Amino acid sequence: MPKNKSIVDYYRARAGEYEQIYYREVPDRRKEIDDACTYVRKISQKKTVLDLACGTGYWTKVASDSASCVVATDISSEMIGEAKNKKYGCPVKFVVSDLYHLPFAPKSFDLIILGFWLSHEPRQNYDNLFDSILDPLKPNGHIWMIDNNSPAEGAQSDSVGLDEFGNNRKLRQLQNGDEFIIVKNYFSKEELQNLLSKRFKIADLIHQKYYWSALLQSQ
Ligand SMILES: C[S@@+](CC[C@H](N)C(=O)[O-])C[C@H]1O[C@@H](n2cnc3c(N)ncnc32)[C@H](O)[C@@H]1O
Repeated sequence: MPKNKSIVDYYRARAGEYEQIYYREVPDRRKEIDDACTYVRKISQKKTVLDLACGTGYWTKVASDSASCVVATDISSEMIGEAKNKKYGCPVKFVVSDLYHLPFAPKSFDLIILGFWLSHEPRQNYDNLFDSILDPLKPNGHIWMIDNNSPAEGAQSDSVGLDEFGNNRKLRQLQNGDEFIIVKNYFSKEELQNLLSKRFKIADLIHQKYYWSALLQSQ
């Protein structure tokens, strides 16, 4: 039986194996990530960057290639521990903190990165998330998000159905066999446009086969 623990427990347990998602041997998938890296280096140029729910620091590292400084936060000290093993191109400060209770002064950062999180956010909590991530953003700053697009039919077989709010729930198994049920929502380009435009100006929205990404500003 799956352990119906929280998403925080799931990622704590997955910290050591998480980054494998970036190294699957699928050329088109690789190309989309490589293009996203180029994009992030460009928008991070000389900026103060906050990487939220940074995980193992994949995007922290990419941003650090061109940013002036990066603060990277995650609720999981296990993830932060993995991220600290990387070498960075600019000064990087790590902070263990909850996405919904960030310890930063308002209007502190030029760019906020939120990688592979929106899909896990329960639909009924979007306003709370958006309030939280807009608070530390400078008035003309940007938010960049990236996340998965819906996999092909066969790969969806791990869905265990929708909850009462319409959140898709998936069964995930770690290498040691431990099982978790987590929220994983997928969005069409139109759904993203509708959802994001309620709280942000959409500067760019890229919706491809494997991933979508969005560059946003406060309204
Ligand atoms: C899908 S991973 C994304 C990691 C990284 N952003 C990336 O793009 O590779 C989700 C991350 O969110 C973190 N997380 C889960 N709940 C959180 C919360 N309430 N506050 C901060 N981080 C959280 C997990 O520990 C995990 O590292």
